[in-house]
Amino acid sequence: MVVHSISRYLLIILSLFLFSLVIIECKSIKFSTSLSPKSLDLKIEKLTHLHFYLQAIIGGDHPSEVKVAGPNTSFIAFGTLEVEDDNLTVSPDVNSMTIGRAQGILASADQNELAYLNVLIFEFTKGVYANSTLSLLGRNQIDVPNREIPIVGGSGVFRLSRGFAITSRIRFIPNSSVVLVFGCYVLHY
Ligand SMILES: *[C@@H]1O[C@H](CO)[C@@H](O)[C@H](O)[C@H]1NC(C)=O
Ligand SMILES: *[C@@H]1O[C@H](CO)[C@@H](O)[C@H](O)[C@H]1NC(C)=O
Ligand SMILES: *[C@@H]1O[C@H](CO)[C@@H](O)[C@H](O)[C@H]1NC(C)=O
Ligand SMILES: *[C@@H]1O[C@H](CO)[C@@H](O)[C@H](O)[C@H]1NC(C)=O
Repeated sequence: MVVHSISRYLLIILSLFLFSLVIIECKSIKFSTSLSPKSLDLKIEKLTHLHFYLQAIIGGDHPSEVKVAGPNTSFIAFGTLEVEDDNLTVSPDVNSMTIGRAQGILASADQNELAYLNVLIFEFTKGVYANSTLSLLGRNQIDVPNREIPIVGGSGVFRLSRGFAITSRIRFIPNSSVVLVFGCYVLHY
């Protein structure tokens, strides 16, 4: 009887000891804290509309869009992968003021129609938007006017942003250049 109760006490003490080890372990691996949005100066969300033009050079010695992989059939065949680094300007004129760059990847990803998986970063270089970026990710049917591409985030002025971009091709000179117009609607702080 006595032996029995001693072993029970030992069991309880052992359990408490193990339980405290678990608590210590939990404390030592804690790596997050709750913050108020105000601590990052996140107060009122606002909506900004940006309007600009993308200048793609697709011919000559210094193209701003290059095919990096894909089938050897056509430039737009399913499986084609392109990388771009284009100027963004304030008007359709290629020589108008540059306000940033569009850097991204186009992957021809639809077996039935012309549609790309598009990963695109707008990097702005002028005014309050200098050094700020917007990240776009979506399906890009390059022949369709007023197509919509989601804006999934950003940095700098556009930290924690989200929104959408509407884009159309407004000029196409084969083996030379393409001009797109972009209207971006961005919610940010
Ligand atoms: C791709 O096509 C070009 C011209 O049509 C040809 O010269 C080249 O050898 C081809 N490359 C491959 C890997 O098939
Ligand atoms: C892009 O804009 C910069 C600055 O305006 C200019 O120097 C450069 O030549 C432009 N690049 C292209 C490919 O138009
Ligand atoms: C952008 O970055 C450059 C260099 O990193 C800096 O000189 C400039 O002041 C920055 N501009 C803004 C608006 O933050
Ligand atoms: C564009 O260039 C390709 C090869 O570089 C050529 O086959 C094609 O005919 C050219 N198209 C035009 C409209 O010049």
